[in-house]
Amino acid sequence: MRINIVSIFPDFFDGPLRLSIPGRAREVGLVQYRLADLRSYTHDKHRTVDDRPYGGGAGMVMKPEPFFEAIDDLEPEGPIVLLSARGHLFRHADAVRYSVEPELTLLCGHYKDVDQRVADHLATEEVSIGDYVLSGGEIAALVVTDAVVRLLPGAIGDHDAAATDSFYDDGLISAPSYTRPANYRGHSVPEILRSGAHEEIAAWKEEQEDNLTRERERGSGG
Ligand code: ADE
Repeated sequence: MRINIVSIFPDFFDGPLRLSIPGRAREVGLVQYRLADLRSYTHDKHRTVDDRPYGGGAGMVMKPEPFFEAIDDLEPEGPIVLLSARGHLFRHADAVRYSVEPELTLLCGHYKDVDQRVADHLATEEVSIGDYVLSGGEIAALVVTDAVVRLLPGAIGDHDAAATDSFYDDGLISAPSYTRPANYRGHSVPEILRSGAHEEIAAWKEEQEDNLTRERERGSGG
């Protein structure tokens, strides 16, 4: 899979995409990252990517041309996602949908807003990672990238680890996990998990998943 990220801060991604699962996935050839510097698609001496809003108001708006020219250059296949607080909420089902594409392109806005023509005529969808406003789309693009890459077959060594993740497959929040020591500062691991009774353990986990999912009023996962 190829993931394109268009941003005025391509360096922002250097560290995170080298580490952990996103880094390993690149090393073993499961994913290729193409970082496009939005400023390289400007044509003035100051490499201007923003301008004042039509109609007035505070803050600067990112110009449409650099985004359109970046896409002309990258010629991506598959979804072109604009990260924005205005978008639909990014969910596990979206990560699954993107993970089966050959290519995913993430457009990061910055400053107050992005010219609406990018959302309307360039992006195929607009995605938010939560109901809060970030300084830019870069952190959101990393969130989406991580959630997608870990779903690529072979990205996670132990398939069971991914198969029992929260939200995986059945849309439930996963049961809590414990490891040794069995008792730590007076807090002990639930007896059932140490019983060796596999059926009872499976039933306990299911019950935990149902309860947690109901408590948090999330259940669809998509
Ligand atoms: N850009 C600014 N806020 C954002 C959010 N909540 N999600 C995605 N991109 C954003």
